[in-house]
Amino acid sequence: MTDPLPGMVGGDHGELPLDAGAFRQVVGRYATGVVIVTTQVDGVDHVMTANSFTSVSLDPLLVLFCVSHDARFRPAVLASGAWGISIADTQAQPAAAWFARRGRPLPDQIAEVPHHRGANGVALIDQALGWLECRTVAVHPAGDHDIVIGAVTRIAAPRRTRDPLIYWAGGYHQGTGSLLDTSNGTSMGDDAGANDGNA
Ligand SMILES: Cc1cc2nc3c(=O)[nH]c(=O)nc-3n(C[C@H](O)[C@H](O)[C@H](O)COP(=O)(O)O)c2cc1C
Repeated sequence: MTDPLPGMVGGDHGELPLDAGAFRQVVGRYATGVVIVTTQVDGVDHVMTANSFTSVSLDPLLVLFCVSHDARFRPAVLASGAWGISIADTQAQPAAAWFARRGRPLPDQIAEVPHHRGANGVALIDQALGWLECRTVAVHPAGDHDIVIGAVTRIAAPRRTRDPLIYWAGGYHQGTGSLLDTSNGTSMGDDAGANDGNA
């Protein structure tokens, strides 16, 4: 990428304003996968697209995602304490865009999206590379978000692997699954966390 960011001062290592706009621009250059987080309260499904998901610990099995104080999903997931993670494949892009749309009608928001139920009752999106069911073990306030940490209670995956949905620079992209290198980088050490490529 050679285009300078708006507001950049100087040359190729140009400094940007210390503000939310520059932060979003630069953090958005960190490519992520996309998950659909789901929960259920009083029989009503609540759903949100997220890319803040990460694995945390192998022993015990822990994952986290961050939820905005503005998200309607936040009170629902805090109330329920049980949630699901569907790791989106490329076919889930319209669903990811739908569950990221602010102000969409909440009732039956999942009705048109193919899904099944986990053992904990939450909806899991069919167009996924894998599914985790989780129980909240800690919630840490962090600025305008909460960090929700969950113990993994069930793991499932489809038989057939598909291409991952990637979010990068404000847009959805197709992961091709083609390796750049056949070594997996383990020479960097094996104590870098649960998502260090060794898990
Ligand atoms: C790719 C992508 C990733 C997102 N990741 C998060 C996230 O990790 N946490 C969050 O609170 N919102 C995230 N959002 C924004 C929410 O999906 C969006 O605000 C949604 O409308 C929230 O729905 P709700 O208000 O019904 O809960 C993301 C949006 C996109 C497009």
